[in-house]
Amino acid sequence: MTMSGQAPRVVLVTGKGGVGKTVVSASLALHYASIGLRTVLVETAGATNVSALFGRTGSGYALTELRPRLSTLSLTPEAAIEDYVVQQIRFKRLYTMVFKNRVMGPFIDAVPGLHDAVQLGKVFDLSRERRAGGHAWDRVVVDAPATGHGLTMLGSARSMMELTRAGPLHEGVKQVQDVIGDPRHTAVLLVSLAEGLPVNETIELWERLGESRALLRGVALNLCLPSPIGAADWRDGSGVLDAVPNGAALRGLVERRLQRVDQQAAAAERLHAATGAPVRALSDLRAARDGLNGRPWAEPDLLRLAAQLDPSGLGL
Ligand SMILES: Nc1ncnc2c1ncn2[C@@H]1O[C@H](COP(=O)(O)OP(=O)(O)OP(=O)(O)O)[C@@H](O)[C@H]1O
Ligand SMILES: [Mg+2]
Repeated sequence: MTMSGQAPRVVLVTGKGGVGKTVVSASLALHYASIGLRTVLVETAGATNVSALFGRTGSGYALTELRPRLSTLSLTPEAAIEDYVVQQIRFKRLYTMVFKNRVMGPFIDAVPGLHDAVQLGKVFDLSRERRAGGHAWDRVVVDAPATGHGLTMLGSARSMMELTRAGPLHEGVKQVQDVIGDPRHTAVLLVSLAEGLPVNETIELWERLGESRALLRGVALNLCLPSPIGAADWRDGSGVLDAVPNGAALRGLVERRLQRVDQQAAAAERLHAATGAPVRALSDLRAARDGLNGRPWAEPDLLRLAAQLDPSGLGL
C-alpha cells in the first residue's frame, strides 16, 4: 500500500476569520491534484472564494473542475438538506411540501446541529462516492471556517446521534461519525497567524474541538517572514552600519524584522506546546502578490505554500 493510500482521505482546514484557510485549503488541494490524486475542494456555509482564487467562476453546489483532477463545490446547509432528503425519499415534491412549507420550514431550521450535520453528511458522501475501479475522490479537502457553522460541523454528527438515538436517521448519522470521527479517515489542520491574539484564538479553538482534537495533524502558521540575517552575524557585524549613511534607519528595519522572526518562533512554540501537533511556517507572499489582491493565485505560489506545509511529513 502506498503512503497516500494510508493517509486520511478527508482533510478539514479550519481556523479563525481571515487567517488564510481558503489559501491553505487551495494549496493543499492543488498539491494533491499535482501528485495525481483526484481531489475535491469543498467550501462550506455558502462561501464561494475558491473559484476566484483559481481564476474561475464557481457554480455553487454543482461541481466545477478547476484543474485536471481538481474540482470544487460550495455547500450551503439548505442545498445539503435538500440533497439529503431528496436522496432519502426519492421524491422531490414531498421535499418541497415539507421543507419549503411556511409552517415546517422554520421548525426544521431550528433543529440543533441539523445544518452542520447535513453539510458534514455531504462531505462524507463525497468521501465514499464510487466510480469504476475505486473511490471517485482520493482526497476531500474541506475549507471549514471556525465561525458560524464551521467549527460545530465536526461535533455535529455526534450531537445528531444523541438527538436521533434510535430513529431512522440514527444509522446514517452513525456511519458519518464512524468516518469523520476516526483519525485514520479524517484529519484536521488548523491555520493561525503569528500574533498573540490569533494564537490565543487558535488555542481556544483547539480546546473547543473536544473529541475531534484527536484528528489534528498540524498547525499552519501563515504569513511568516524569513529572517534577514542570523542573530550572531547581526550582533557581530551590525556595527558597520554606524559608519554608513542611513545606517540607523537600516538598523531599525532589520531589528524590527528580527523581532518579528522571534515572535513567529514564540508563536510556533506556544501552538506546539498547547496542541502537541507539528507547526509549519508558511511564507507571507503578500509582497510578491502586491497589487494582485482579489486576483487569481499563480499555481507555483500555492504549491510553494503546500511544500512548506509538507503534507506527507504530517502523514497527509
Ligand atoms: N501566505 C499568504 N501570502 C499572501 N497572501 C495570503 C497568504 N495567505 C492568505 N493570503 C491572503 O490573505 C487574505 C485572507 O486569506 P483567506 O481568504 O485564505 O483567509 P480565510 O481564513 O479563508 O478568510 P475567511 O475567514 O474570510 O474565509 C486573502 O486575500 C489571501 O489572498
Ligand atoms: Mg475563506
